[in-house]
Amino acid sequence: MRPAAIVLIASALTASPALAEADATASGEEAYREACAECHRSPERLVRGMRGDESERRERLEAFLIDHHAPDEGMRQSVIAYLLSL
Ligand code: HEC
Repeated sequence: MRPAAIVLIASALTASPALAEADATASGEEAYREACAECHRSPERLVRGMRGDESERRERLEAFLIDHHAPDEGMRQSVIAYLLSL
């Protein structure tokens, strides 16, 4: 089985509302590695520099990332959940 198929099955198995947040964070880490890490080695550094409380950071990331390598809604939400969990 190809790795992509295993990931799909794994996320289907864990897709319950109770786990949704932890799941989004984990897939956000994966998405970050694929879409962002080549340019931003340290995700911590990206978010530590941001001012404001969590909802302000979320809004700013949302507005910024839509035109910055994260056009897909689901992927963007996962990456934001991951970044805000750091
Ligand atoms: C091709 C290289 C590249 C990729 C891929 C990339 N970025 Fe960036 N990113 C940059 C550069 C260069 C800047 C600084 C210039 C700018 O603001 O556009 C930046 C700026 C940022 C900032 C703003 C930092 C600040 O202090 O204002 C955030 C947040 C960010 N990137 C997050 C991400 C995330 C999350 C991803 C993946 C979805 C990503 N980037 C993918 C190159 C990249």
